Amino acid sequence: MKKVQFDLKSPEILINGNGTAPTSTVGRGKTVDVGDVRQFETEWQDNLVHLQLGNSLDHYENWERPTVIVSDGAYGILGFEGDTSNHIDLPNWYKPHIKAWSQYSTPQTTLWFWNSEIGWASVHPILEQYGWRYVNCNIWNKGKGHIAGNVNTAKIRRFPVVTEVCVQYVFEARINGLTLKDWLRHEWKRTGLPFNKANEACGVKNAATRKYLDRGHLWYFPPPEMFEKLAKYANVYGDPKGRPYFSINGIQQMTRTEWGRMRSKFDCPHGYTNVWDRNALRGEERIKAPKKDSKSAHLNQKPLDLMKLIIEASSDSGDVIWEPFGGLFSASLAAKTIGRKAYGSEIDPVYFNLSLKRFKLPFQAQLFS
Ligand SMILES: C[S@@+](CC[C@H](N)C(=O)[O-])C[C@H]1O[C@@H](n2cnc3c(N)ncnc32)[C@H](O)[C@@H]1O
Repeated sequence: MKKVQFDLKSPEILINGNGTAPTSTVGRGKTVDVGDVRQFETEWQDNLVHLQLGNSLDHYENWERPTVIVSDGAYGILGFEGDTSNHIDLPNWYKPHIKAWSQYSTPQTTLWFWNSEIGWASVHPILEQYGWRYVNCNIWNKGKGHIAGNVNTAKIRRFPVVTEVCVQYVFEARINGLTLKDWLRHEWKRTGLPFNKANEACGVKNAATRKYLDRGHLWYFPPPEMFEKLAKYANVYGDPKGRPYFSINGIQQMTRTEWGRMRSKFDCPHGYTNVWDRNALRGEERIKAPKKDSKSAHLNQKPLDLMKLIIEASSDSGDVIWEPFGGLFSASLAAKTIGRKAYGSEIDPVYFNLSLKRFKLPFQAQLFS
């Protein structure tokens, strides 16, 4: 663990000094400043978590490949220093990160993209451009308590907003430039066998042609045992000149285990939908600003239970979680509680150092309500 004495007068050097900072803005309503943190650290590590101070763009290459990326960055609301002042600049803000995520992800990687509705809408085209396939938009409904009757709707002339979104994307696997759906059809066509023979191969009435070789929205990822049957049949009965079929190395057919790794993990806990009714974060879990009459330290601290929900649904024990925009590192802390490894980065030395308290405390599972 590296400890440095930080120059209390110039944290901006660290924030903006690498030349990659986005449209620089001054965050509104920051309740903590350098005076609140005396002992600066730049790195923290235990057996599961590795947190670093600095721009995540400088760290990605040293992190293990992620099974899950939890992105909770700029919202276009001046939420922190470096956030943009509106959604128009968000695509440029996110672009270098999205590019890097694509570079280091695998077909098993899920991205959870937190934002406002308009923020997400602006960034969505960039995500698609870099190979992220949209799965689902989940709505965090903070409920009426979030506005507590304090909104003058005649003045704002719209319905009061009590939501954020957490959008699920997966990194779309491609083989020879083809999506899995297209590749399966392409390989079967190469065999010269009629499509209905795929049903015989899988021992089903018509599920293979209706699902696994469908070219439209009814397509399903064949379960590994079905993929194995398709591939075996193709290699036994398909045109000998084209063998091997369903191979990525051109030598042997892909195994069922390899095929199973061609998609992201997802296991939905019982009873959940895409609307998450959960109050805004208050109480003991909310980190308070030192010396500031118990104001919240970070404008956008996320609830640990929601972070745990998404991480648990899309990874297994021992898998790697990335949190590129750490804030108070809620995703990394949630990941640790359920035995995942976490890599995170936070650019603001004050937030970074405040967050470390959460990791240094004896571990507090009771924070999950
Ligand atoms: C919306 S907040 C994240 C809040 C966090 N999810 C939590 O629960 O505490 C975004 C954070 O990302 C940080 N940040 C912005 N750009 C960054 C970058 N390039 N690298 C690392 N951190 C960054 C900001 O300083 C801010 O604290």
